[in-house]
Amino acid sequence: MKILGISGSLRQASLNTALLRAAIELAPASVSIEEHSIAEIPLYNDDVRAQGFPPSVVAFRNAIASADALLIATPEYNYSIPGVLKNAIDWASRAPDQPFAGKPLAMLSASIGMLGGARAQYHLRQVAVYLDVIPLNKPEVFVARAGEKFDQSLKLTDEATRKSLQALIEALVAHHARLSGRGRP
Ligand SMILES: Cc1cc2nc3c(=O)[nH]c(=O)nc-3n(C[C@H](O)[C@H](O)[C@H](O)COP(=O)(O)O)c2cc1C
Repeated sequence: MKILGISGSLRQASLNTALLRAAIELAPASVSIEEHSIAEIPLYNDDVRAQGFPPSVVAFRNAIASADALLIATPEYNYSIPGVLKNAIDWASRAPDQPFAGKPLAMLSASIGMLGGARAQYHLRQVAVYLDVIPLNKPEVFVARAGEKFDQSLKLTDEATRKSLQALIEALVAHHARLSGRGRP
């Protein structure tokens, strides 16, 4: 199974990118998670789109289309998802052939706050409705006080969080199997 991993943070020392990389490390051998950067995607402009998708957008749309499932690690900015993530989603969502429809999605968030980015995840779920992407309901992984859960090299050291990532990936694999008619409803 091929999962596309997307981080909603562009900064080098991002806790969300580190969380995504921990998920990549903890995934079972039968699952490959490939990280795709959204750093090169320009600000959405419909005049530009009318001339054709920029190369970074084409690459992002192709990566979504060829994945079996999506895994998004998002920061919470002002109780929502960061503009860079929404912008990348907006580009990818445009016709023709928007690549999100019917794709299984799991989400993660890490925050220095006490709620672990929960509010951002619920905004992402709202966006998922229009995209027709199919989010996994449970488990929910909100990494609160995330600064305390990684070491200096951004390795995830918190055992409970490592276990929750493994459970999330396992559930995403089952979600994908159900959606492709190979699992229990
Ligand atoms: C513009 C901005 C808004 C933020 N708003 C929130 C917020 O609403 N809730 C929260 O828990 N953290 C908020 N934070 C703090 C982030 O959780 C923290 O910076 C986190 O490390 C960002 O994710 P990253 O490490 O992956 O870049 C905000 C940070 C920024 C830069």
